Amino acid sequence: MTHTSPHAAHDHGAHPVHGPEHDADGQAEILDLDAEVLAEHIASITAWLPVRADPRHIVDLGCGTGAGTLALLKRFPGAEVTAVDTSAGHLERLQHKAEAAGLADRVRTVQADLDGAWPELGTPELVWASASLHHLADPDRTLHQVHDTLAPDGLFAVVELAGFPRFLPEDAPADRPGLEERCHAALDRHHAEHMPHRGADWGPKLTAAGFTVEGERLITVNLGPPHTEAVGRYALSSLTRLRGSVARALTAEDLTALDRLLDTGSPHSILRRDDLTVRTERSVWAARRT
Ligand SMILES: C[S@@+](CC[C@H](N)C(=O)[O-])C[C@H]1O[C@@H](n2cnc3c(N)ncnc32)[C@H](O)[C@@H]1O
Repeated sequence: MTHTSPHAAHDHGAHPVHGPEHDADGQAEILDLDAEVLAEHIASITAWLPVRADPRHIVDLGCGTGAGTLALLKRFPGAEVTAVDTSAGHLERLQHKAEAAGLADRVRTVQADLDGAWPELGTPELVWASASLHHLADPDRTLHQVHDTLAPDGLFAVVELAGFPRFLPEDAPADRPGLEERCHAALDRHHAEHMPHRGADWGPKLTAAGFTVEGERLITVNLGPPHTEAVGRYALSSLTRLRGSVARALTAEDLTALDRLLDTGSPHSILRRDDLTVRTERSVWAARRT
């Protein structure tokens, strides 16, 4: 769920250097697992949205592999969704998922860079942007563009996240307690430099762009243990991606401990742990075009 930089040449450990395609694959897997593990939470957000009438046309900005698109199609059976993303691979995956769910005839995928000229998106009654606004170069400009695109009285739903979930107990692993927290602290420093809009308060920004914020919600997720098999894979792929951004900032001891967790052949593999949780938060804003 985040931008990763290529591994440093002096990286400790045996992980291969990943290119952009592999990077997109890694993100796609995390997005799919996120959708699977947090399906109920995402459904609770779509159910909460203060729509005045069931929307006929919805736009999902930075749709990824379709967590929001599919949830919205299920929530609003009369709606069609235009799903926009830069990644052709993500859009293809979304299309396959929609076909498997029998929903493909209600989805249009559009490959576009939202930092550039916008494609024709029609006049949706609902625009949804989940974990995507903070990726954009000039989100304030994007908020104005959404305002201009929405139908009168239309709703803009912004979902943002605190970051990757926490999966390990605080005292784990036994020889390096607090390891996951130190990884997150390093990631926060990395993001402060590379992704300044992550963690922003979108309420005032939405108001400045002409919206009326009608609702704001914090969803707290705290799952397991025990956990499903998908949680193990979610933890493995999230921490693998996190490693790509923070490896250089960790001590050699922490990196060794992290690599032991990520080594699926090791007795210390994260997949063998029975104490995993999913602890995270999602912030949601519902903003009306008035
Ligand atoms: C963290 S993912 C969130 C995906 C999805 N909304 C979800 O909630 O699972 C961020 C998405 O924004 C997309 N994205 C990032 N920058 C973009 C841009 N400039 N234009 C369009 N999409 C972009 C990425 O490709 C990625 O799919």
